[in-house]
Amino acid sequence: MNRFRMPVLALLSGALLAAGAVTQPASAHTAGPPLRVLADRAGVRIGTAVDMTALAEDRTYRRTTAREFDSVTAENVMKWESVEPQRGVYDWKPADDLVHFARAHGQVVRGHTLVWHSQLPAWLTTGVADGSIDAKELRGILREHITTEVKRYKGRIQQWDVVNEVFEEDGSLRNSIWLQQLGPSYIADAFRWAHAADPKAKLFLNDYNVEGVNAKSTAYYNLAKGLRAQGVPVQGFGIQGHLAIQYGFPGQVAENLARFEALGMQTAFTEVDVRMILPADAEKAATQADYFRRLLDACLGARGCRSFTVWGYTDRYSWVPGVFAGQGAATPMDEEYGRKPAYGAVREGLAAGR
Ligand code: G3I
Repeated sequence: MNRFRMPVLALLSGALLAAGAVTQPASAHTAGPPLRVLADRAGVRIGTAVDMTALAEDRTYRRTTAREFDSVTAENVMKWESVEPQRGVYDWKPADDLVHFARAHGQVVRGHTLVWHSQLPAWLTTGVADGSIDAKELRGILREHITTEVKRYKGRIQQWDVVNEVFEEDGSLRNSIWLQQLGPSYIADAFRWAHAADPKAKLFLNDYNVEGVNAKSTAYYNLAKGLRAQGVPVQGFGIQGHLAIQYGFPGQVAENLARFEALGMQTAFTEVDVRMILPADAEKAATQADYFRRLLDACLGARGCRSFTVWGYTDRYSWVPGVFAGQGAATPMDEEYGRKPAYGAVREGLAAGR
C-alpha cells in the first residue's frame, strides 16, 4: 500500500472537517458493504421511501435505492389520490412500477397507506362536503378502496399502513371525514377489510410523534389493545420517526416499543428523517447521526422490530424543505449522494447488530 495514502487521506478529511463539510468525498460513495447486507445479518429490513419520478429519471437514485435497501415504501403513489384520481378511474402504473422494481431487486414492499385524512381525491372530499356522498355510501367506498388496492398487491406487500395518523397530539381521535361520517368503528372495519383481501400482509397503525411514551402513543396503545381483544387483525405499530434536532430526542422509546410487543404486536420505524434548521454544519450533522443511531438501536433492541425505513435517503428529494421553511438536510445523504455522518451511524448500528 502506498505509504503516503493514509496521511494524505487524514489531511484531506481534516481539511474538510475544518471547512465544516459534513459529507465524505465522492470516492467514498460506494465504499464498504451496502446497508442491506449489514441489515440482513442483523435480522432487520432497511427501507426507504421511494420517489417514483426520481426512480424513473435519475440513474444514481435508481442504483443507490437498489444497492442500499431491501425494503421500499411508495412515498406517494399508493395513496388514494394517486391510485383513484377520478371515481372509478384507477392509475396503478406508478405503484405497479415500484412493486416490479422491488421484485427485480429482492426487496419487500411496505404499503402506504389505505386510510388517511390527507391526499384524498377531490371527488371524494367534495362529494362528502356537498352531501352528494352520504355516510352509508362513504363506508361502501372505503371498503371498496381498501379491498381493491390490497387485492391488487396481494402477496406482494409485507406490511400495510392500514390507518395513518388517526390521533391528535392529546390522544383524541382526529376529526377527519372518516370519524365525522362513520364514527370510530371505521378503524376496525379498515383492518378487517384489509385482512380479508390479503390475510398474509401484516397490518399496521402508523403515526408521527409516537416514538416515545406520550399521550398520542398511549392512545395507540389503548386502541391496539382494545382492537386485539375484539379479535380485530391489527398486527403492527408503525412509528414514523420524523425528528428535528432542535426539539431534542424523544424519551422512553425502548419502553414504548416494549409495551406494544407485550401486546403481541410487531413494531417498525417507518419514515425516519431528522431535520435541522439550515444551514447544516458539522455539529448539527453529528447530532443528527446520533438521533438516527438511537432510533435504529431502539429497533434492534426490540425483538418485534424487524423493519427500519428512512423517508428518503438523499436531500435531493426530501419532502422537508417544501413543508418546513428554512429546515432540511434531514436524510443520511446530501443532494449529491455524499454520505453524511448519519449514513455512517446507520451503517455502524447495523454492523453492531442486535
Ligand atoms: O403529484 C402532484 C403533481 O401532479 C403536482 O403538479 C404537484 C404540485 O404541487 O403536486 C404533486 O403532488 C405532491 C406530492 O407530494 C407528490 O410529489 C403534493 O403536492 C405534495 O403535497 C405531496 O407531499 C407529500 C406529503 O406526504 C403529502 O402530505 C410528500 O411528498 C410525502 O413525503 C409526505 O409523506 C408523509 C407520509 O405519507 C405520512 N407521514 C408524513 C409524511 C411527511 O409529510
